[in-house]
Amino acid sequence: MGKSTASSRITSFYKLEHQQRLDKIAEFLGENIFNQDHFLDTGNTDFQIVDNMIENAIGTMNIPIGLATNMIVDGKDKLIPMATEESSVVAAVCNAARQCRDTGGFYTYTSEHIMIGQVQLINVINPMITKQIILENEDEIKNICNEVDPLLVQLKGGFKGMEIRILDDGHEYNVIVHIFVDTCDAMGANAVNSMVEALSPVLERWTNAKANMRILSNLADKRLSMARATWRTEDIGGEAVRDAMLSAFRFADSDPYRAATHNKGIMNGISAVILATGNDTRAIEAGAHAYACQTGRYRSLSSWGVDKDGNLCGTLELPMAVGLIGGATKVHPTAQQNLKILDIDSADDLARITCAVGLAQNFAAMKALVTTGIQKGHMSLHAKNIAVMAGAKANEVNKVTELLVKGGKIRIDVAEEILANLRH
Ligand code: MEV
Repeated sequence: MGKSTASSRITSFYKLEHQQRLDKIAEFLGENIFNQDHFLDTGNTDFQIVDNMIENAIGTMNIPIGLATNMIVDGKDKLIPMATEESSVVAAVCNAARQCRDTGGFYTYTSEHIMIGQVQLINVINPMITKQIILENEDEIKNICNEVDPLLVQLKGGFKGMEIRILDDGHEYNVIVHIFVDTCDAMGANAVNSMVEALSPVLERWTNAKANMRILSNLADKRLSMARATWRTEDIGGEAVRDAMLSAFRFADSDPYRAATHNKGIMNGISAVILATGNDTRAIEAGAHAYACQTGRYRSLSSWGVDKDGNLCGTLELPMAVGLIGGATKVHPTAQQNLKILDIDSADDLARITCAVGLAQNFAAMKALVTTGIQKGHMSLHAKNIAVMAGAKANEVNKVTELLVKGGKIRIDVAEEILANLRH
């Protein structure tokens, strides 16, 4: 567990200057075993910005941004920045997108942008009466919510309705109030959370119940994105590959063990776009996995079949609560530049593109899995990492990688040996 015996109880760490924070860490460790300069260099994001984004900031973590090429979304060619630490993810999207260009690429759809806010009412004497009292006051509820965010209302967003659910939590009946809020170009967590917080004391007064908690739901099933694409059978290696991919889909749709990995592949693409644009990766992932359970069983988020000509068709549908305003999207300079590359006008556009990337990723993963297997593609990119880890300099990396792949043993000791031979 390491040598330090110092206390981690440090008060007001956040009040220290950047350098002082790093000194504190060195003091805690008892020696300066980490490179302070590494943390002092926050790259293209000022420490001031970083420090305003989170508490007790000490530095930044650079994640590579790769560019997904070849994508056509709703008839428009698009370049898509993806932030990910995993090799093969960007290449997979480029490949999948190239193979469906002839059929027009990806076609997308988005529903309305409604987010759900929840208030949990407990200590309810009569659930049905409580439900009715709340329903009778919908106009007042609308006013309370809309007063919280007049700007949203000006933009034609704001409160759009509600639903009252009676839930048996195994201990007592809860009355769960859902408010539906159109959050326009915002992800909407701040707006919705402020609304449910403003609403709670009033609900308590009307119903004599207790508002135990109030928060947005990440199961944003009133803010869905869909993408579809068609791959010609001859462009993907013939009927055998197509049928193997369909079987792979049925496997994922029937078996939660496989579905978890299948959906993880989809999220490889989606989370990379979400991160690149400063959106909330955890919110999107939570929503996606909860949505995968909507039938009561965890299933594939995508669906695969054939068209009338026997070509492979895929669709993907999932909640996509993304924003262009607010949060890290607005303050992170790299997120802002990535949005410029995406060249979009609305959060809706971002939701569409992100969903298309998820479908592309799923196509590429399934195809690789039923043909060459995943390791071939993975390993050649992984070999680059191994070459760097073995100490290869920029001008040596390509040669070491090539020899590693050729030899078929992608290991650090092999890379070191190759490097030593090259240098001699
Ligand atoms: C690896 O990050 C993602 C895959 O496992 C997805 C899949 O199995 O479909 C390749």
